[in-house]
Amino acid sequence: MIGVFDSGVGGLSVLREVRRLLPTADLLYLADQARAPYGERSLQEVRDFSEAIAAYLISREAVPVVVACNTASAAALRGLRQKWPAVPFVGMEPAVKPATHLTATGKVGVLATQATFQGELFADLVARYGNGVEVLTQACPGLAALIEDVPPDDRAAADRLAGHAVPLVAAGADVLVLGCTHYAFLQRALAERVGPGVTIVNPAEAVARRVAAVAEEAGTAHGSATTAYLTTGDPARFAAQVRLLLREETQAEQVVL
Ligand code: DGL
Repeated sequence: MIGVFDSGVGGLSVLREVRRLLPTADLLYLADQARAPYGERSLQEVRDFSEAIAAYLISREAVPVVVACNTASAAALRGLRQKWPAVPFVGMEPAVKPATHLTATGKVGVLATQATFQGELFADLVARYGNGVEVLTQACPGLAALIEDVPPDDRAAADRLAGHAVPLVAAGADVLVLGCTHYAFLQRALAERVGPGVTIVNPAEAVARRVAAVAEEAGTAHGSATTAYLTTGDPARFAAQVRLLLREETQAEQVVL
């Protein structure tokens, strides 16, 4: 079985792509909604939460463990790999590298949580792949929490994301990177608001391809097509969110970590 986690519903945007590539895999998704959002917490807190979740998923024999959260990846991915060297982890990172190949203006904008920008992963990415391109960053405080609470076509959430993106575009960015898995649900609405001259990069599909490759190697790519939805929060609320975001009828289960 493949394990996927996020602070909340954001990682469902990655799960959706994994399911597309691996129609029969058994998937286990864990949303840490009791402690979400992660983006305004300290890196140490996010590291502790991520370790507890990884330990749980590993106890359920999840391979790989997919950290479908940029904030948790920025805070914890390196530590998780050190702690469990035999377990394959697949993480998220803001898609700076592909963005630098797409820009004509030499400026790309990255939208993410505050914590994601504070992690060393982001500084590393810019140092390694910046390629002389100017990387403009914009934190979107409170936005992931808002996305947890509204339907995917919510105008206020899309306006808020666009409000963060517009100054980056005004500063010359012609590529915007969605550096938080929650924002992926607003990709289309953002594209409408910033217009056709701006390319929006969502790494979910590329990450799903990596998950599929690792799962093939680990023997977890094919199974009985089950998806289990777990939350540390309210299972009825989570099932309703899955219904709205993935159009899937499901029961969610509560898990105590
Ligand atoms: N979906 C997450 C991310 O990719 C976390 C958002 C949050 O909990 O603040 O960063």
